[in-house]
Amino acid sequence: MRIAWLPGDGVGFEVTQGPVQLLRSPLLADLVEVTGPWPVGATGFHQTGELRPPETFEACREADAILLGAVGEDPAVDKAACPRPELSLVGLRREFDLRVSVREVLSPSDGQVTTVVRNLLGGAYTGEEDHEESDGVSTEAADRIVLTPPQVAEVAEIAFDLTGTAPSRRVISVDKWSLYATSRLWRDVVTRVADERGVGIDHVLVDRAAYELASTRPLPQMVITEGLFGDILSDLICGRAGSPALCGSASIRPSGGSGVSALYEPAHGSAPARTGHDVANPTGSFLALAMLLDTDDATKHVADAVRRALLEEIATGEVTYDLAADGTQPVGTREFAERVVATTERLASVAS
Ligand code: IPM
Ligand code: MN
Repeated sequence: MRIAWLPGDGVGFEVTQGPVQLLRSPLLADLVEVTGPWPVGATGFHQTGELRPPETFEACREADAILLGAVGEDPAVDKAACPRPELSLVGLRREFDLRVSVREVLSPSDGQVTTVVRNLLGGAYTGEEDHEESDGVSTEAADRIVLTPPQVAEVAEIAFDLTGTAPSRRVISVDKWSLYATSRLWRDVVTRVADERGVGIDHVLVDRAAYELASTRPLPQMVITEGLFGDILSDLICGRAGSPALCGSASIRPSGGSGVSALYEPAHGSAPARTGHDVANPTGSFLALAMLLDTDDATKHVADAVRRALLEEIATGEVTYDLAADGTQPVGTREFAERVVATTERLASVAS
């Protein structure tokens, strides 16, 4: 497996260092090759004048997967010179047809994972041609949302592949059926696929889903939903879990095409104010790494070890600022990551 490492902006470099160290360790070095760091995002623009420099694009074409840190604001880059660095991520997804998002949020309190599967191309995530800008005074702005039945079916199939026919907890499909034609299509298609698979699901309107996910009810095992709803709800689930850094994110191309077929990243942003201070929580990057290692039988046992190592290390209470209890001294990114790497190595060598 060849992995292109794109640290990107802000804390992206710091939070991916631990996962890259693990990928390059004796545990995985025979199975995985890491190339990079390759420039992307605001810092890529700063260095090369392009959001996705050609060398980075070439590296992604030659790799199986991308490990990305973050794209967004970076303290070293003038905001006015590069106003929308996020477009580099949208562009990478589009370029390699990474059309489905799978996110795993880990709740340290009970060790359970909530998975969110959504479409990343089509729906609310449209091309530039589907956005009509207003002049801000007199002309209208418009965004076109288009979904096809196969796009919805693919997302549902992937979600049910992950839960199997007997999910251990609730599976919900989220839409705004009462308002949108795309949501009515969504509900019809997801119902059909669930019936074919024999999986019991609940349909929940997005506002109600937001309430339920934010309440004290147990979190569902799986949330299946449209792109923008999933973007919002996955952050909300992170809020329940305790930190935006508790989410690993995969953007995947389930079939066909060429070049990288998946991009793995923590779901959080570039956190410019925390950049360079060795404070950010690298858990999301490790969870993204676990999702990557899940895709190959030869590395699956390491994925399990990573998740168990994260839970073990978080349970010590010696954690980064976002998870540290009041009155305790937080540990830095590097120290926490080193402990996760060491514990993963211990757990994985017992497993193999
Ligand atoms: C995410 C981000 C992206 C998205 C942005 C940066 C385009 O919020 O990955 O959750 O909306 O998908
Ligand atoms: Mn988001």
